Amino acid sequence: MNPVIDALKFRHACKKFDSEKKISDADLDTILEAACLSPTSFGMEAWKFLVLASREIREKLRPACWDQAQVTDASHVIVILARPELIAPENDYVLKSFLRRELPEDATKAYVERYKWYFETEVYPRMSTYAWCAKQCYIGLANIMTAAASLGIDTCPMEGFEKDRVEEVLDIDTDEFEVAVLVALGYRKGEQTPRRRHDRERLVEIR
Ligand SMILES: Cc1cc2nc3c(=O)[nH]c(=O)nc-3n(C[C@H](O)[C@H](O)[C@H](O)COP(=O)(O)O)c2cc1C
Repeated sequence: MNPVIDALKFRHACKKFDSEKKISDADLDTILEAACLSPTSFGMEAWKFLVLASREIREKLRPACWDQAQVTDASHVIVILARPELIAPENDYVLKSFLRRELPEDATKAYVERYKWYFETEVYPRMSTYAWCAKQCYIGLANIMTAAASLGIDTCPMEGFEKDRVEEVLDIDTDEFEVAVLVALGYRKGEQTPRRRHDRERLVEIR
């Protein structure tokens, strides 16, 4: 008996939503609180949670999302936007982020230097700043799904979309924001797909 495990057992990738059922403002607020409390590497918070309540907007969006029914049948869709331009080490935003910690000047300077070094040695050789930012967005995604499940709300995480098209439909300023991942939220309707998981022995190693 553990409320987090209970929520994780309730959660599944919901394919069939009841289009008549809406999430209350209070529950949506709790879910967004969970999103905003999520951690990010170096505390950069280089993201935005774009909530699509309007069915009209979601109808326009659906063809860009492989025509997946979840987009329109769910109560809401949250589009998680990455902000890769913000987190470039030379951007003032990085220094400002570290200054929020109210550390002594030399400690702040050390953080900025560590951050630069981390980007040079670990990020740039392996991935784009968009990919690094998107990795953080998936932490927000996970917390949104778990918070929703704790309230008896179903979700479907969605990577099945055409990024450029989604950004165009939603009129996203791509100089500032890029779509990382989507999540549909609402209430399940009828029978759902069973959960499949590998054995724990295959997935966990303890040394
Ligand atoms: C990042 C991510 C993207 C996903 N994209 C889609 C999607 O576009 N459409 C969909 O129906 N399911 C999508 N899924 C759901 C997975 O297929 C599902 O989570 C997986 O099969 C395990 O099933 P469960 O979540 O019900 O346990 C996605 C899952 C994740 C984590």
